[in-house]
Amino acid sequence: MTKLNIVILAAGMGKRMQSALPKVLHHLGGKPLLANVLETARTLFPEKICMIYGHGGERVLQALPDSDLIWIEQAEQLGTGHALMQALPALDKEGLTLVLFGDVPLIKKETLRKLVNVVQGDRCALLTAELENPYGYGRIIRAPDTGNVVSIVEEKDANPEQKLIREINTGVMLIPNKYLHDWLPRLENSNQQKEYYLTDIIALAVNNGVDIVAAQPENTWEILGVNNKAHLAELERIYQNEYAKKLLEQGVTLADPSRIDIRGQLICGRDVEIDVNCVFEGQVVLGNNVTVKANSILKNVSVSAGAVIAPFSLIEDAEIGDNAQVGPYARIRPGTRLGSNVRVGNFVEIKNSTIANASKVNHLSYIGDTQIGENVNIGAGTITCNYDGANKHRTIIEDNVFIGSDTQLVAPVTITEGATIGAGSTITRDTPSQKLTLSRAKQISIDGWVRPVKNKK
Ligand code: UD1
Ligand code: CA
Repeated sequence: MTKLNIVILAAGMGKRMQSALPKVLHHLGGKPLLANVLETARTLFPEKICMIYGHGGERVLQALPDSDLIWIEQAEQLGTGHALMQALPALDKEGLTLVLFGDVPLIKKETLRKLVNVVQGDRCALLTAELENPYGYGRIIRAPDTGNVVSIVEEKDANPEQKLIREINTGVMLIPNKYLHDWLPRLENSNQQKEYYLTDIIALAVNNGVDIVAAQPENTWEILGVNNKAHLAELERIYQNEYAKKLLEQGVTLADPSRIDIRGQLICGRDVEIDVNCVFEGQVVLGNNVTVKANSILKNVSVSAGAVIAPFSLIEDAEIGDNAQVGPYARIRPGTRLGSNVRVGNFVEIKNSTIANASKVNHLSYIGDTQIGENVNIGAGTITCNYDGANKHRTIIEDNVFIGSDTQLVAPVTITEGATIGAGSTITRDTPSQKLTLSRAKQISIDGWVRPVKNKK
């Protein structure tokens, strides 16, 4: 197969985003626009990928740390042709170059493959689309007799007749490298915008007797670009909609496919159910028969088979065991591992802790830096005091322990297997196995005590 170079143009500043962040770093589906394009580009296994950057310089480089990228600065943005010219020394002498835009993030790999497939031989390929409203785009000019593409005219340079053409240039093109080395230095900027237009390559090709083949994407939304926040929001919805469709095809039950947000990767087993307004970030894996109820947020989480995440739960960097029940209103923080059949109830916060099989923390607790064994019951309002103001300490609660409600466990402390702690205790020392330990004052009743009464004014 012919060698492929890919150049991603990302030097534009994106003034209309009204933001200090470079345009290509705004997020779509949880990652920078440019990262979306890059991910798709990689599916073609190119020889090399050149990134043309300008505005936002260093920040753009830092956002995409992949070591194999060839970063090329376009210090002054003099047009798309000028941008590609910067990459010329890095391009191979042979093979093809595919040009992509960093702000056109929804382009699909199938579409790019189609373009690579149609180009065979000594030709150029162009991705075009028919739009209801072609305003702002370069128009594709075809010869009236043959129907062949002969040039591209930018909106600002188009005459009224050309403006009626609805076939537009998406910006994606595939050109043999030998021609780029020859033609790019010949581009001129004698146009309305005084820019070096990459699109002028097409007329040059035709003048040199090189054929242009045009291909179209399966969906027109693939070629939409982001120029402002309204576009960004629109494209985000398209992205989410497509992701939801994919999940439905895999058999996932979505209460409403228009009310789910996936900012990363969501991998689901069989018979997974997801209620409305859930957000999935990073890598989330849901095992068979997992249910995620409304308004839950899961980030880098794996949930094993049969577990139920009840409404309004926030779970981050954690593993949830099979048939566990979490929430409603639970907060599971990084470093938490829950075993099978564990229950974590409402208004419970758990951080950097493991809870073994069948243990319960059902109400209003804070469990931090703790190791809990099997079949443990943690009473309502129990707090592990893991922080002494300077250092964090661990709490160990062994199997079959029962902690009465409203207990404070001052770490470091170990509650030995089978121990029971009386409600309302403050435990500062290790407790013996199988015994009841409590630390509250004895209950007394005072004879002759009267309630205070309000002073008369
Ligand atoms: C370009 C095309 C137009 C096409 C449209 C599709 C040209 C001359 N016009 O127009 O035919 O319909 O895209 O969206 O190519 N860029 C640089 N350096 C520059 C200028 C641009 O890196 O000096 C990058 C931008 O960051 C962006 C891309 O190239 O990613 C397109 O630039 P933009 O200014 O948006 O081009 P359009 O005028 O929209
Ligand atoms: Ca544009």
